Amino acid sequence: MALGQTESWGSRVGLILAMAGNAVGLGNFLRFPVQAVNNGGGAFIIPYLVCFLLMGIPLLWVEWSMGRFGGRSNNHSTPFILDSMTKKAFWKYFGVFGIFTNIAVASYYCYIESWTMSYVWHSIIGTFDGMSQTQVAQFFSKYVDIDKSLTGIPYEAVVFYVLCLLLNTFILSRGLAGVERAAKIGIPLLLVFGSFLAIRGLTLGASGASAEVPNASAWDGLNFLWTPQYSSLSDPKVWLAAAGQIFFTLSVGMGTIHCYAAYVKSKDDVALNAVSAGFTNEFVEVVLGSSIVIPIAAGYLGLDWVKENAGFGMAFQTMPFLFEKWGPILSTVAGVMWFGLLFFAGITSSLAMGTPWMGFMRDEFGWGRLKGAWSFGAIVLALGLPTVIFYEHGVFDEYDYWAGTVSLVVFALAESILFAWVFGIDKGWRELLSGSDLKVPNIYKFIIKYVTPLMLLLVFLGAVFTPLGNDWTAAFVSLFSGEGWQLDHASIIKTITNAGLHEQLVAATDPTEVARLEDRRFYTNAARLLLTTTFAALAGLVYLAARKRSSPSNQTNHE
Ligand code: ALA
Repeated sequence: MALGQTESWGSRVGLILAMAGNAVGLGNFLRFPVQAVNNGGGAFIIPYLVCFLLMGIPLLWVEWSMGRFGGRSNNHSTPFILDSMTKKAFWKYFGVFGIFTNIAVASYYCYIESWTMSYVWHSIIGTFDGMSQTQVAQFFSKYVDIDKSLTGIPYEAVVFYVLCLLLNTFILSRGLAGVERAAKIGIPLLLVFGSFLAIRGLTLGASGASAEVPNASAWDGLNFLWTPQYSSLSDPKVWLAAAGQIFFTLSVGMGTIHCYAAYVKSKDDVALNAVSAGFTNEFVEVVLGSSIVIPIAAGYLGLDWVKENAGFGMAFQTMPFLFEKWGPILSTVAGVMWFGLLFFAGITSSLAMGTPWMGFMRDEFGWGRLKGAWSFGAIVLALGLPTVIFYEHGVFDEYDYWAGTVSLVVFALAESILFAWVFGIDKGWRELLSGSDLKVPNIYKFIIKYVTPLMLLLVFLGAVFTPLGNDWTAAFVSLFSGEGWQLDHASIIKTITNAGLHEQLVAATDPTEVARLEDRRFYTNAARLLLTTTFAALAGLVYLAARKRSSPSNQTNHE
């Protein structure tokens, strides 16, 4: 059977687990703790929860409703789901984001997923036994880049990346049943592994303190994350970080939710399902995500170390070393559980990223499941190999910035306007409530119409015009005193022009440094070229599909 009209979810539990699996991902365990620490711990939590209620939940409802609506007329990807909601032809090109983002994010996301596979393997064979903290960190550096052969290829990383893509492709080729089965196995195991490690983290207390770090305590890590600080409420920087995390973790603004929801039966509930999947994600993120890396690292290395070193690689560079302190058997078990849970979190999300492309090619060009899945694997491989081979040159970061951050906001802003203002909030609200098993509070009609689009607009503008040093107070003072608005190099405008790199190049005198910066500029531009080419190619396919649809012989298929 092909992905398409005839396919739908096997059971409600399966659907909710698949949707939860789509949301629960590496972002919950790797991105959330780092964002929380880097934005002041407890200072982050209130903006984060407000963004969840005012942007996350409304967008979940919007996307589920849009997906089910489009699915009724046999549309399973965003270009023609959006198209089915309006008479204006240009909206379908906004829908290109809902395929593009998934392909581009899958390209680098599967790379991290492949690290987790590899680290499960290395935990089992005891690679980290007896290694010092520095040696564990060096193992990671070598894995991703430095240990290159003469050909310049980090072989082990490439092998695991290809294996990871093969596994994703194989499961996708089984259609929704494969996705559902992966979620039914992956999510419960993830919860068991996560609970075990969280209990270990929470019961560590001050027992990990040592002569070198006498004050180390796991509680410090937890207290830092959970003591609210109200001062952050007026800091746009923290709000932007919180909003970014909500997007990434819920997978809103991506197109995956629309696609999954398009396979829901037309009379089935979407309101309660959306909330169930959303809250499952939040439980995993806020409870489990904050109870593992940070408390365990603070318990052995101290809170100051955590604040200074909080970063994405901590999970790979530090955790295996800390697990070693638990003795030979428990360290292996903990390693397998930690990297295993990351793997399950990752794969249930990356599978979701494959479905919009498959749905689109099935709907528009009649491609079956096998062709859809293998073509997805091939495109991701082509786009993803540069992130593997040129990881240290910034290709990975470039993809993450444009596809995993900016695109999500652009698409979410567009769809929220479409839903509330073009399709119309009354129609949209009726769509959300139809078949609903939940009494959706009426206030959300107002929120979806005004608050969410406004917040999205502010987030977007905040990213486009990020002020110098991310200091908003100084920026407004400067603006109102007639001195203008100075942009930060991290603003979208300055990022597009590579302003930061140019400035560094002008200042650099050491030839090695100049060569490094030029190299960085080359890879940054090359990565952008790859991304824009992918987007343009997808837009071309949407154009072809639209022409095909308007030819007289095809007109009945999508009515
Ligand atoms: N929502 C997925 C994650 O958190 C993409 O990793």
